[in-house]
Order: sequence, then structure tokens, then C-alpha cells
Amino acid sequence: MRLDKFLTSLGKATRSEGGKLIRQGKVLVNGIAQKSPDFKIDPDSDTITLSGEVLTYKKYTYIMLNKPEGYVSATDDEKEKTVLDLVDPQDRRRGLFPCGRLDKNTLGLVILTNDGDGAHRVLSPKHHVEKIYKFISRDPVSENDVKALESGVDIGGYLTKPCRVKMISECEGEITLIEGKYHQIKRMLEAVNNKIVYLERITFGNIQLDPSLKRGEWRYLTPDEEEIFK
Ligand code: URA
Repeated sequence: MRLDKFLTSLGKATRSEGGKLIRQGKVLVNGIAQKSPDFKIDPDSDTITLSGEVLTYKKYTYIMLNKPEGYVSATDDEKEKTVLDLVDPQDRRRGLFPCGRLDKNTLGLVILTNDGDGAHRVLSPKHHVEKIYKFISRDPVSENDVKALESGVDIGGYLTKPCRVKMISECEGEITLIEGKYHQIKRMLEAVNNKIVYLERITFGNIQLDPSLKRGEWRYLTPDEEEIFK
């Protein structure tokens, strides 16, 4: 791997900033300053330091974000604030994207990663990764509604896959899905003549929204949590 690419992949610098640091002799490979950005390194066996700090190569980054209202699940947008605006510029450079989408007014657990294959896998209904959402509805959800929602409802030409609904009170519950169609839960509630007034994702497979994260805050996934992508 090229030395400048290595720095970029860690989010330490853009390609051009990395080139500058390398030419300035701030990057050592096995203790020797290598001043050419295209110098080839082996991230597994070489020891690379930047201004004295040892850099450890990690192929992919995984971040848990507690999404506030008003942010779109995209990498960039001309008009709207995106979930990527909430993380450090250093991490943004790594090519992160949201693993699945939450609507602008949906809150809670969003995973950001640069692991395209892993994201594809966990999002595919084939892999049955469950996501749990807390919701509040405008009107009470009856037992018949729960049965209909659980067995599948028509959301405009698409019959939703079986899911679980647990009501906590008349208008408040949790819904567990293995798929994620556009506005799925809102459209499911509309299919039973109701309306979502609050929606928050609280789990994604084995990953639970960390209660210590305030809205807008994030942290890296732990190695146990990352397992879902492997
Ligand atoms: N279902 C919705 O309707 N919106 C979301 O953001 C997620 C699931």
C-alpha cells in the first residue's frame, strides 16, 4: 500500500495533506523518514509513525451515532444537514456512509461505516438482522392491527414481511423488522389507518443504542459489536 494512502485510510490526512507530511519527513517507516508519498509499505508488518505517534492500520471504521431530528441519512446534501456532519472531519475522510437510512425526523441508532460489503450483508433481509424501533402512534393500535402488521400489510404494492409488534400502551410500542423499505413503518401504520408521531431506532442486530450517547453524539463500535459485519 502507498504511504499516502495509508495515512488517508486512517483519516489522518487528505491525500495532499498526507503527501506534505511525508515530504516534510514527519512520517517514519520502521524508524526511517520516507519522503516519497508513493513509498510502498506493508501495513501488517511495517511500523509507521506520524510525528512520533505509532499508527495502527484498521481496514474498516464502524461508528454508532445517536441521530437527532433534522439530519438526513446521506453522505452529502445540497440543502440538508447530513448524519456525516455530526462526526469529526478526520473520520469523514475515511469514506464513511450510513448503513441504512433513517428518515429526517426519525431518531436513534445509525451505524456509519466504510465497509461496503459488510453493510450490504447486514441490510439484506436474507440475513435476518433485526432492527427494533420504538414508536408512538396518533391513535390506539388494536389487537387486530397488531395481527395485520405482524403478518404483513400492503404499503403501496409491496406486502411487508412478517414482523413483531409489542404494544407498551395503547399508542406506544416496539416494532421489530428485518427489512427497511422507504418510510416502511410510517406506511405500515398508514395501512391500518393510523399515523406515526414518534419513531426511534433502538437496536440493530446485536447492537443497542448506547444510553450514554446524547442525541448527536457518537462512538466507535466495540469489537463485539463489530462482529455483525464479519
Ligand atoms: N421506518 C420509517 O418509516 N422511517 C424510518 O426512518 C425507519 C423505518
